Amino acid sequence: MLARLLSRLLFRAEEARLQKEKKSIGHLGSGSTIRTGLKIVGGEHISIGEDFYAGPDCRIEAWDAYEGEKYNPVIRIGNRVSIQSGCHIGAIRSVEIGDDTLLGAHVMIIDHDHGSTELSELEISPAKRKLFSKGGVTIGEKCWLGENSVVLSGVTIGKCCVIGANAVVTQDVPDYSVAAGNPAKIIKHYMHTENHDVPE
Ligand SMILES: CC(C)(COP(=O)(O)OP(=O)(O)OC[C@H]1O[C@@H](n2cnc3c(N)ncnc32)[C@H](O)[C@@H]1OP(=O)(O)O)[C@@H](O)C(=O)NCCC(=O)NCCS
Repeated sequence: MLARLLSRLLFRAEEARLQKEKKSIGHLGSGSTIRTGLKIVGGEHISIGEDFYAGPDCRIEAWDAYEGEKYNPVIRIGNRVSIQSGCHIGAIRSVEIGDDTLLGAHVMIIDHDHGSTELSELEISPAKRKLFSKGGVTIGEKCWLGENSVVLSGVTIGKCCVIGANAVVTQDVPDYSVAAGNPAKIIKHYMHTENHDVPE
């Protein structure tokens, strides 16, 4: 009885927290389904299109200040984008995800690191280092990123690409490509013409 009451209270508290997180998003299109545990940072810099789906425990973070430094982050997520449980999207510059793209569970898309890897930085406590970015991340429309894949700063993935499970993408991936591995390599690429695809 007490346990049921407690679980109902916890559920209501999470519902209220989730509504607050959703409201903090600058633009959230209609038809979204967002599961519990979503965490938003810098919601005013985040815009999400229609029919968005987020599985449990996703994090979408646009950091405009950290350790006294200011940033101008932008996160733009297109229409009908679906991100499964535990995904982490983070920006101090920009992360753009095109329409109809699907992220498997535990995908990380991030445009920054805790400091550079210069020798002068290594003695600073990592949490105190200035956030460092090699550039924004862009992912085209109709991409599918397999579970646990990681996309690092400065990377552009074209449209209609597949990224294999556990891939770590450190270099650009052209349209109509399949990339896999760590670091990710292009394992298939198609030259797209109007009427048919020709393997390159
Ligand atoms: C990439 C993937 C889609 C397969 O694509 P594919 O074009 O059929 O690739 P193939 O199976 O023909 O493999 C081609 C080569 O890539 C390698 N490869 C395939 N997937 C790989 C991966 N995730 N990591 C590393 N290498 C991979 C294969 O071993 C093969 O190597 P070889 O030529 O040396 O033998 C699939 O392997 C994958 O990773 N799927 C993701 C599954 C997932 O995350 N599901 C969650 C649901 S949202």
